[in-house]
Amino acid sequence: MELREKAYAKLNFGLDVLRRREDGYHELLTVMQSVSLCDEITLRLSGGESISADANLKYLPKGEKNIAVRAALLFFETTGIPIQGGEIEIIKNIPVCAGMAGGSTDAAAVLRALNRAFSTGLGRSDLEEMAYKLGSDVPFCLRGGTVLCRGRGEIMTDLPPIPKCWAVICKPPFSISTSELFAIIDCGKIRNRPDMDGLIKAIEQGDVERIARRVYNVFEDVLPPQYSEVGVIKAKLIDYGALGASMTGTGPSVFGLFKDPDTAGRAYDLLKKQYRECYLAVTTEKLDV
Ligand code: C5P
Repeated sequence: MELREKAYAKLNFGLDVLRRREDGYHELLTVMQSVSLCDEITLRLSGGESISADANLKYLPKGEKNIAVRAALLFFETTGIPIQGGEIEIIKNIPVCAGMAGGSTDAAAVLRALNRAFSTGLGRSDLEEMAYKLGSDVPFCLRGGTVLCRGRGEIMTDLPPIPKCWAVICKPPFSISTSELFAIIDCGKIRNRPDMDGLIKAIEQGDVERIARRVYNVFEDVLPPQYSEVGVIKAKLIDYGALGASMTGTGPSVFGLFKDPDTAGRAYDLLKKQYRECYLAVTTEKLDV
């Protein structure tokens, strides 16, 4: 059996960290948006009990350290369907450790593909529960579209799909550890917070310019000085015509939003001359499970 599924990247249009929880995680308020930049997942299930991953990036783990493998194992364990072993091929197009849920979205794609292939009858909420066991933003990745997320990210409210717009995404040549940045942030001392009400209203009105003006991520305020390139890229995106720009997740990727594809294309070309990891993507809508 061969199953193919696309695994879309996410951007945080607004990201606020409300408080540190007793369990060590943080209470978030964030609008997540899926975009067309995606990994390509192929599951080749040929029998046996072992599942391994093989990616075009050789340093990605092949066994259970790979979240896509864990997703497949969790699917079989939860549904009671006997394990169908085989290989998960991952063509990685989304940058790794970049704030775009690259690993989480591979896991979500595996769950979607298996759920469809085995006609489990499991609904969206059953699958989202499974997804949450794999990581905080896996439930969003399963769903896609434009979603207001709270809790660790798993309490989701769909927002109306926004008019298609373009994102130029650029990852500076370093990575930032998610847990490192969550450890630094002091929720009592955050000076600037995103205008989430304004952002949600702009989304409801389908007003891309107002959405773009409100993109903001509280983690930008606490970035250690060695990551100052994030601010430099943001400024360049605005200079090249972006209607708004922000870091996504715990970074370091930065995105700029554009209504006009030609302006987006020119901004992409200019940035691509300066940074190796640049991407041009469009926003995408909610997925079927
Ligand atoms: O859930 P996930 O494994 O993707 O989270 C990775 C790390 O990000 C956690 O270990 C935690 O340090 C941090 N995190 C957090 N609060 C969240 C989500 C993630 O503190 N809501």
